[in-house]
Amino acid sequence: MSTESELREAICAHGRLLYGRGYCVGSAGNISARLPDGGGVLMTPTNACLGRLEPGRISKLDTSWRHVSGDKPSKEVFMHRAVLGSRPEAGAVVHLHSTHATAICCLAVPGDPAPPIPPLTPYFVMRVGRSLPVLPYSRPGDPAMEPAIAEAAKGARALLLGNHGPVVSGKTLDDAVWAAEELEEAARLALMLRGLPGLRALDGRQVDDLLAAFG
Ligand code: 13P
Repeated sequence: MSTESELREAICAHGRLLYGRGYCVGSAGNISARLPDGGGVLMTPTNACLGRLEPGRISKLDTSWRHVSGDKPSKEVFMHRAVLGSRPEAGAVVHLHSTHATAICCLAVPGDPAPPIPPLTPYFVMRVGRSLPVLPYSRPGDPAMEPAIAEAAKGARALLLGNHGPVVSGKTLDDAVWAAEELEEAARLALMLRGLPGLRALDGRQVDDLLAAFG
């Protein structure tokens, strides 16, 4: 398990990589990670560029989600609280406005039984899982979405927020970032291949096999 200072460094390192690869632009996106031994949560500050985070300025929140040190936390505190509250096994949450996953957020219809991204590749299934709920649009930072996000997160590692972007959790910070990257790549493939004749997704048996082996 990482120490607090290792976790601060890891958040900054992942932020740099995500920004460097164009998975977030400007001050979009935010990351949270549980501190070891139930010590609260670290979170990226509001209006921070994920490419230029500083370990000493990362926001620290206590176990009641009160801001205790560092810069003012992300306006999406409630979103991270909803996911971490519903997923005790999750250690971290990543929210991005990555282009292709966000494009799917603009196309997918909340409640549609068809998956917003088909299971095209094994790593998408292994990292993101079977379920990818789509939530209706709400203004960034609107705490009214907390109950809906909490409910959807109970059965899914990742969610798509209508016209906004993906929210992805993982057991560790690495897991959450890797799942967010797989989700972005899967969204890109889905858009590239959309409507092409002969497109083949993994079938139910193949998805079950992946989740049994790696889920
Ligand atoms: P913050 O700068 O407050 O983290 O908000 C960025 C964002 O991605 C909003 O959805």
